[in-house]
Amino acid sequence: MTTKSTAALNDAPPPGVAIVGTGFMGWVHWEALSRIGVPVVGVLGSSTEKGRRFAERFGGLSQPRAYRDFTELLADPLVTSVHVAVPNRLHFAMTTEALLAGKHVLCEKPLAMNSQESAELVELARQCPSLAAGVNYNIRYYPLCLEIRERIRAGELGELFHIAGSYVQDWLLKPTDYNWRVLTDEGGELRAIADIGTHWLDLVSTVSGLEVEAVCADLFTAHPTRQRPAGEIETFQGKIGAPSQTTSVPISTEDYGCVMLRFRGGARGVLWVSQVTAGRKNCLRLEIAGARQALEWNSERPNELWIGHRDRANELLLRDPALLSPGARSAADYPGGHNEGYADSFKQCFRSFYQYIAAGDFSEPAPFPTFADGHREIELCEAILRSQKENRWVTV
Ligand SMILES: NC(=O)c1ccc[n+]([C@@H]2O[C@H](COP(=O)([O-])OP(=O)(O)OC[C@H]3O[C@@H](n4cnc5c(N)ncnc54)[C@H](O)[C@@H]3O)[C@@H](O)[C@H]2O)c1
Repeated sequence: MTTKSTAALNDAPPPGVAIVGTGFMGWVHWEALSRIGVPVVGVLGSSTEKGRRFAERFGGLSQPRAYRDFTELLADPLVTSVHVAVPNRLHFAMTTEALLAGKHVLCEKPLAMNSQESAELVELARQCPSLAAGVNYNIRYYPLCLEIRERIRAGELGELFHIAGSYVQDWLLKPTDYNWRVLTDEGGELRAIADIGTHWLDLVSTVSGLEVEAVCADLFTAHPTRQRPAGEIETFQGKIGAPSQTTSVPISTEDYGCVMLRFRGGARGVLWVSQVTAGRKNCLRLEIAGARQALEWNSERPNELWIGHRDRANELLLRDPALLSPGARSAADYPGGHNEGYADSFKQCFRSFYQYIAAGDFSEPAPFPTFADGHREIELCEAILRSQKENRWVTV
């Protein structure tokens, strides 16, 4: 660490995180933070009681506060950063208020509901040069995804011809499956593409360095009506128990989407996403074809990288720090054979965020996904939506 960053580290208050949202992402963030030794000092749930129950369940001996509201959270001097893990419609306002209150922000994806909001957040982050502002595109941090990036950068694949893949789930398969995401007002006009497709798109741009130039989309809503339960159903929880009382609600967000892609420079791509494919739990697949070789990775077998050759036998690289490029090894904490997965990708993303803050030199480029990355994903989503509505290729 440099003298400058050591000084900054010494001057900076100790990190203290407040997590907003006590659903699926709330506890995933909590667990990842605890694994890197960054303390959670408080939580905000949709009610104080819910926040308290969450703090008791996950806080152990650390006794984090359960705030009454967001104003109380922002007024807590122990809070140096805010993790926004609530439904998408709340991201813009909470992120804005947190930055204006002088807190670092790590916001869940998508950064906002539309590109006007995300552009405002990019500008606000620029006006707060001593605050870190990140969006949680965590998939980038799988060690073998970083290995793909390193191999492409080293030229091992040669010229990239095309990139194909998918992100497929089954938790919204039935018309009785429900979560706030299915509603345009809560999650945005695009659902499957914005919710999981942007993870794939972010991953592709990170590993390949390619920028999407134009898109052509075909979207489909398998269930134009869903059964909404009386109470709240957090992410994935609907698969565990069926609620007794429901009302029918019309749904316009897509369950499935297929997008053809043209990248600047000429490479082509295709992505399909679905939240209604039985048996696929969280299956992100990526296949990159270059002039010399191809690579394939699947998030449900995240410790294996397939390397395709034309003139010799194909290879299967098992994640092992000793076998990875230096740029990927730093994200692999466990020896080969001890698998690392989804939870580890959050740990690595947050580590990169908090190491950047600790180093204290905000003139350095941020190593984590930034608001600019979040804004780009939303612009892509809007181009995809326009392509669907106008039934044509749309330039991004
Ligand atoms: N990076 C990833 O891999 C990933 C995965 C899942 C979800 N997400 C993102 O995380 C965010 C949260 O999604 P989730 O799956 O955890 O949803 P969820 O439904 O499981 O949980 C959302 C929580 O927010 C709470 N909440 C609602 N309004 C609130 C308010 N005003 N104040 C405080 N809490 C409030 C709800 O009570 C609920 O507990 C979304 O933006 C989603 O896109 C990211």
